[in-house]
This record gives sequence, C-alpha cells and structure tokens, in this order.
Amino acid sequence: MSEHKNPYPGENNTGHFWDDENDVRELNNRPPRWYMQAMAVSILAVIIYSFYYPSIPWFGDHYKGSAGWTQVGEMKESVAELEAYREKKFAATEQAIADSSLEDIVRDDELRTYAVKTAKVLFGDNCAACHGAGGQGNAGFPVLADDDWLFGGTLAKIEQSVTNGRKGNMPARMLGITDAQADELATFLIETGKGEAGNPNPASKALYLSKGCIGCHGPTLKGNQMLGAANLSDGIYRFAADDQHASVVRTITHGVNQGHDPLTQDAVMPAFGNSKVIDAVQLKKLVVYVHQLGGGVPVAPAAKKAQVSNDPMYTPVAAASDSFADVIAAAEANYKKNLAQNAAWRDTGKMIKEAKKTKDAALAKIANTQAVNALRQASMALTASPTF
Ligand code: HEC
Ligand code: HEC
Repeated sequence: MSEHKNPYPGENNTGHFWDDENDVRELNNRPPRWYMQAMAVSILAVIIYSFYYPSIPWFGDHYKGSAGWTQVGEMKESVAELEAYREKKFAATEQAIADSSLEDIVRDDELRTYAVKTAKVLFGDNCAACHGAGGQGNAGFPVLADDDWLFGGTLAKIEQSVTNGRKGNMPARMLGITDAQADELATFLIETGKGEAGNPNPASKALYLSKGCIGCHGPTLKGNQMLGAANLSDGIYRFAADDQHASVVRTITHGVNQGHDPLTQDAVMPAFGNSKVIDAVQLKKLVVYVHQLGGGVPVAPAAKKAQVSNDPMYTPVAAASDSFADVIAAAEANYKKNLAQNAAWRDTGKMIKEAKKTKDAALAKIANTQAVNALRQASMALTASPTF
C-alpha cells in the first residue's frame, strides 16, 4: 500500500490508494441499500428474538421471554412425542400380551422377545434390589436364574409368587431342639448337601425325622414347593453365609419369618398384584422374563388345531354305494380335487387306473381312501395355526 496526495479531490475517496497507478482506490460511498436494509432487519430480529425467547441475564436470573419457551420444556415435548410414537407402534403388541395367556406368550417368538426385552427394565426397577441384576440373587434373597425353585418354576407358580407375594414359614426350634441338636442337624444337612463328596452321619437322619423337619422338607430333604420349603439336599443355600454352618444353625434355632424372634431369617416377597408401579401387562412380562432367566419349567407346544376346512374344495365326495362303479366314481372325483390343490399322493392316480383296468373294487376303495386322506391333509395344512 502507498499513500499519496489526493490527485482526485472531487472524488469521494478516503485517500487510500492501493497500487502505484492509482487504479485501486478506496472510496467512501454509502454501502448498498440492500445491505443496510438487511442490517436493519437483523437488528429487528435480535430485538424480537430477545423479547420472545429467554435472553438478557440479570440479578442471578435472566429475562424469561414472552413465549415461555425453555430448553427443558422442548425436551419434554420431544420425549412425549417419542412416547406417543412408541405407544402407537407397540400398541398392538401390548394388546396381544394383554389378551394372551402366559403360555401363548412364551410360545410366540415375537411376543416372548418383546416381553423379555421390555421386562428387563421393569425387573431392574422393581426386583433387582432384592434378586440382583438378572435374577442372580443377593445374600438372603433367592436366585431366580437357576432351577432351584422354592415355590416352583412353572409360569403359573411364578405368576402366583409375583402377584400374591410369598412368605415362607419355618418355626424356630422345632419340637424343642437343643443347641447341640441344632449343631448336629446343621452338620448333617451341609454334609448331605455336598452330594458324593459329603459324609453325613446316618445316625443324624433319625434326629431330622424326629424333629418334624420332614413335614416340610420331606423325607429325602428335597423340600416342598407348596410350602416354599427349601430343597436341603442340593447344597444351594438361600441364606448363604461365609460361615454356612452357623447360618444353618441360626435358621434352625430362629426359624424363617418368625416375627417375634429378632434373629429369625426374613424372607418376604412383596405382592405386586395390586401394585401401583406394575400393571397387569407389566406383571405378565415380568413372569415371562423370570421364567426364561433359567430353570423355568418348559411350556408344552400348543396342540395342533386338527380342524378341517369347510371349503367344498376340501370336502370329500362320498361313494353312493360299495359297488365298484360308485367307489371308483368317488375316487376319481376326490382325486380330481387332489390334483386341483396340488395335494395328490403319488400312487393314487396309478391305483385308479389299475382298478379301472381290473375292475378291482377293493383297490378302488383303497384309492378312494387315499384321495380322501390327501384332501384332509391339505385342508389341515390350510387351517393349522401357523405359529407352531
Ligand atoms: C423386598 C425384596 C424383594 C423384592 C423387591 C422382590 N422380591 Fe421376589 N422374593 C423375595 C424373597 C425374600 C423371596 C422368597 C420368599 C420366601 O422364601 O418365602 C422371593 C421370591 C420370589 C419368587 C419365587 C422364587 C422361587 O424360588 O420360587 C419369584 C418368582 C420372585 N420372587 C419374583 C420377583 C419379581 C419378578 C420381583 C419384581 C417384580 C420381585 N420378586 C421383587 C424378595 C423380593
Ligand atoms: C413348617 C414348615 C417347615 C418346617 C417344619 C421346617 N422348615 Fe426349614 N424351612 C421352611 C421354609 C419355608 C424355609 C425357607 C425357604 C426360603 O425362604 O428360602 C426353610 C428353610 C430352611 C433352611 C434354610 C435353607 C437355605 O436355603 O438357606 C434350613 C437349613 C432348614 N429350613 C432346615 C430345617 C430343619 C433342620 C428343620 C427341622 C428341624 C426344618 N427346617 C423344619 C419350612 C420348614
């Protein structure tokens, strides 16, 4: 850049010339009109914007804006929109879960998958505090992910557990058990629970039998799911402890859920049947979820609907009499329907031909029976439930 005396005094220039020939000069014209107008519009926009939306900070707060818009409000609106969308999208599936039996939900891949996926969060919110994430159990709370059930692992039993809650009951010091006897019983149970590796004293079995344990835990120590009495033969301890022997002694001397005894083992499963946090559909999902965590008693496949279609295409033609002519006529009519449905059995046609040649009434009858059976089969394939 170089500066010179202004050689163009009549011109509205600033005196800045940008090259030696003075071809490039800085003038002092007004900016173009469109430019000034755009600026005016922008200023106006800022004023309106500042008035409309939250803007100017003051005194530890800020001007809230005339529109009442907030970022949090906008987020809430979006979330509501999303939820409405989800509700619409999954309404049919939710309804199907509401309308289906637990067995049918488990049998249906789509419903089961949906129930399990949506129940995972419900389980985390409502059950995991006691049963552990994924039902792995917590000290003092039963594992739901194994096949060692207190009350039973069928869908119906699990539903009962969740709906009505559970509260096992074991009296303290059955029939006046002494400390020494409690100790002996604990040793006996723990050794029995070790299976092959264990070394239970056979003489202690008499004590077990004489103190009424058998009434709930059974003669083979396998427990009783009607009463929620634990299986004592499997070495799985619900009241697990570092010192398992001491814990079993405690259970024997203070019982389970004996409210008056401060050392009793507490084991209360709350009822979720009338809960405000879980509705009926959610409860179903949770039951299906727990059932598939592991150890759920498998659900039998649905019985096939052996219903026959009413379509005349599938209705067999009956032979008017047992005469060769009538039977072969029926066989031919039925075989024609077989062919029309692509359901013909391979040798029916051959049999009909052969029977016609030999006038063999018995063969005609077999051919007809085959044609009728093929019709039934085609009809059943048509009406059988497609999901299983
Ligand atoms: C306050 C703790 C607690 C919460 C919360 C809880 N449970 Fe339980 N649950 C228990 C206890 C304790 C038992 C065992 C009761 C007994 O032994 O009498 C149990 C038992 C069960 C059983 C029976 C297990 C068996 O072996 O037969 C099922 C099934 C079950 N709970 C499912 C659930 C589900 C699903 C939820 C959530 C909706 C849930 N529980 C929430 C404490 C809880
Ligand atoms: C009235 C029924 C009843 C009788 C009788 C009974 N129990 Fe129990 N027992 C239970 C119930 C219910 C539980 C709790 C199961 C649970 O909630 O995990 C239990 C739990 C136990 C446990 C804890 C198991 C574990 O997994 O931690 C032991 C050990 C036990 N009983 C031993 C005995 C012995 C020994 C006797 C006899 C002196 C006896 N019980 C008599 C009902 C009974």
